Order: sequence, then C-alpha cells, then structure tokens
Amino acid sequence: MSSDLHTILCDKLGCRFPVVQTAMGWVADARLTASTCNAGGFGFFAGATTEPGDVENQLLKIKSLTDRPFGVNFHMFQPNAEEVIEMVIKHKVRAVSYGRGPDAKTIGRLKDAGVICMPTVGAVKHAVKAVELGADVITVQGGEGGGHTGAVPTTILLPQVLDSVKVPVVAAGGMFDGRGLAAALAYGAAGIAMGTRFLLTSDSPVPRSALERYLVTKDPTAIRVTLAVDGLPQRFIENEEIRRLEGMSFPARLAMSMKYARQWGKEAGVGPIGMMKLGMKVLASGENSFAQTVMAPNLPTLVQRGVVKGDPVHGLLPSGQAAAMIGKLESCEELIARIMSEANERLSATSALIHAG
Ligand SMILES: Cc1cc2nc3c(=O)[nH]c(=O)nc-3n(C[C@H](O)[C@H](O)[C@H](O)COP(=O)(O)O)c2cc1C
Repeated sequence: MSSDLHTILCDKLGCRFPVVQTAMGWVADARLTASTCNAGGFGFFAGATTEPGDVENQLLKIKSLTDRPFGVNFHMFQPNAEEVIEMVIKHKVRAVSYGRGPDAKTIGRLKDAGVICMPTVGAVKHAVKAVELGADVITVQGGEGGGHTGAVPTTILLPQVLDSVKVPVVAAGGMFDGRGLAAALAYGAAGIAMGTRFLLTSDSPVPRSALERYLVTKDPTAIRVTLAVDGLPQRFIENEEIRRLEGMSFPARLAMSMKYARQWGKEAGVGPIGMMKLGMKVLASGENSFAQTVMAPNLPTLVQRGVVKGDPVHGLLPSGQAAAMIGKLESCEELIARIMSEANERLSATSALIHAG
C-alpha cells in the first residue's frame, strides 16, 4: 500500500511529500518552483540570482502559479540581499535556504516573521554552527552534488550531521530516485533534496541544447569538481569550456574576471565603488581568499551562457554526479509520483527481505 511517507519536514514546510527541489541559480525559476509545489514537493526559488528590483514580481509570479507554500534561496553577498529578505517577510514565504549565511540577527528577524530557516551545509562544523545561529532544518549536501560542493560524500556527511544536531536533517547530493528517498529515511533523514534531478525535468527553463549534453553524460567521473572557475570547488559536466579555463594562466584568468566584473556591474547596476565594497565585504567575512574574490565574477557569465543561453561548448553546466543516472526528462508531477512509488516499493521490499531472512 502506497503512503505519502509524511515526515516532520512535511509539517514544517507544508508540503505533501518529503521531497525538496533545491535552488539553482538561473534554473529554479518561478515555473519550476511552482511545478514542484503543485506536484506535492517543496520548491526553492533562486532568489540569489534574481535581478535587483525584480524579486517581488517573481514571488507574485510563483503565487499566480501555485497556492502551495514555497521557499526562496539567497546569500548575504548578493547586492540585493536586503530586498530578498524584505520580500520574503512581506509575502509570507514559508522558508529560506542559504549557504554563506545570514548572521544570528538576520535569522532572528526571519524566524520572528515565521519563516523556516533551512541552510545547506557541506561540512559537519557548518551544520553545528548553523543550528547555533538558529536554523530550523539542515540540508546536507554531499560532495556528489552540483554547484559549489564539499569533499565529503552524502553517505558520510549525512550520518555525521544526524549525530551532531537535533533539528530535522534533509539529505542532498546524489539523490535522483525513490531508492535515495528510502535510504535517506532509513538513515534518519526527514527527506531528500535534489537539484540536478529537477534541472532535468520538462518544467526546467534550461534550453534543450544544454539539456541534451546533461542527458548524454553517462560517466559520473566526467561530472567533476574544478577550482578553475571561481577558485572554489564546484562540480560541472566536463566540457570544452572547463578544459579551456583549466589551461589558462592565472594572469589570463584575472583579465577575464575583470572583463566579466565590469559586465556584471553594468547589468546589476553596481558601479566600481559598489563592486569594491562588495569585494571587501566578501573578503572581510573570511570565507574567500583574495584570488577567489577576484575570480568570483567569472561564474555568472559562464553559467548563464550554459544554462540560460543553452551553449554547452562555451558555457558552463553545473551538475551533480546524479546526471549520469538520468536519461530522460519527466515533468515534476511524473518525477515526484515515481519517486514516491519507488520509495514505498523499496521500503516494503526491505522489510520483506528482512522477514524472509
Ligand atoms: C545548476 C545548479 C545551480 C546551483 N545553484 C545554486 C545556488 O544558486 N544556490 C545554492 O545554494 N545552491 C545551488 N546549487 C546547489 C543545489 O542547490 C543543490 O544543493 C545540489 O544541486 C544538490 O545536489 P544534486 O545536484 O546532486 O541534487 C546549484 C546546483 C546546480 C546543479
């Protein structure tokens, strides 16, 4: 008999199934977020890459597409972080996710407004710190995951974090089907979160030309971590652009960063002084080295070329290793229904296995 596998995560987020679509810059748009929520999961909108002045429009768009609760992702180093926080509170958004984090005061402000704070962490010490700062739920992202990622796989990070914090924990990094959900629940997680799997749905805004490159990649070792983009470990489908960046000298990469920084500043309406201030803020946080701060502008231009313009040769394709396990696009509705049915099947088969033994 099939069950919703209702967990505490469903209570906290107000969703039917313990399946979360994580935020992905330029990918988790209003439609993908709403489609996830309409299918019974919980979607996070990519607020970290939303243009200044456009956050409220996007939240209203999500609300026009779904009456279910949804979440918004942001980070404190984006120029319009305050705009995102204000809009989240004004529109009573159910939850926020973040990586490089808001301080205890900002988290307190969100919690006072009834917003669930659900950071993503890649190391156990970050999980402990996030809970001290007020997190209500922790998403662990194992090293298999897409985007910026750590070195510890989900199979190690998940039990480490479960043993270290008392709040509900969600497993991410390498999840793509119902077996993953059944396994995560057996570990003691309250649900799963997936990025790459939702990028590869028919509700994703990524152009077909880029999706094809994800779908034909069948070797998990060809979806690898590189430092060559912004100096931080980030996982991509290996392509021509990754190899070109890795072959560049540091001065050439620096010159490229300067060019992209000017371009980004123009688009985001941030002048040279504003950019300098932003760079100082990132440096002062102690989370990035000088080289990482200087290389950071490479990321938006190159990722947008890949996942927005759909150029799989000259752009970048951030991806988890799960892409190697995905051969076709399904809608969010089909995907979540299949995951729930597979997870139920797996859990029943497991108890039958034990009884038969
Ligand atoms: C294309 C892409 C873009 C991403 N952008 C962000 C982002 O803007 N903010 C963030 O916190 N995480 C981002 N991530 C990480 C995901 O939110 C998520 O933690 C990760 O994809 C989970 O691993 P999985 O890909 O194996 O499911 C991104 C991941 C991908 C694949």
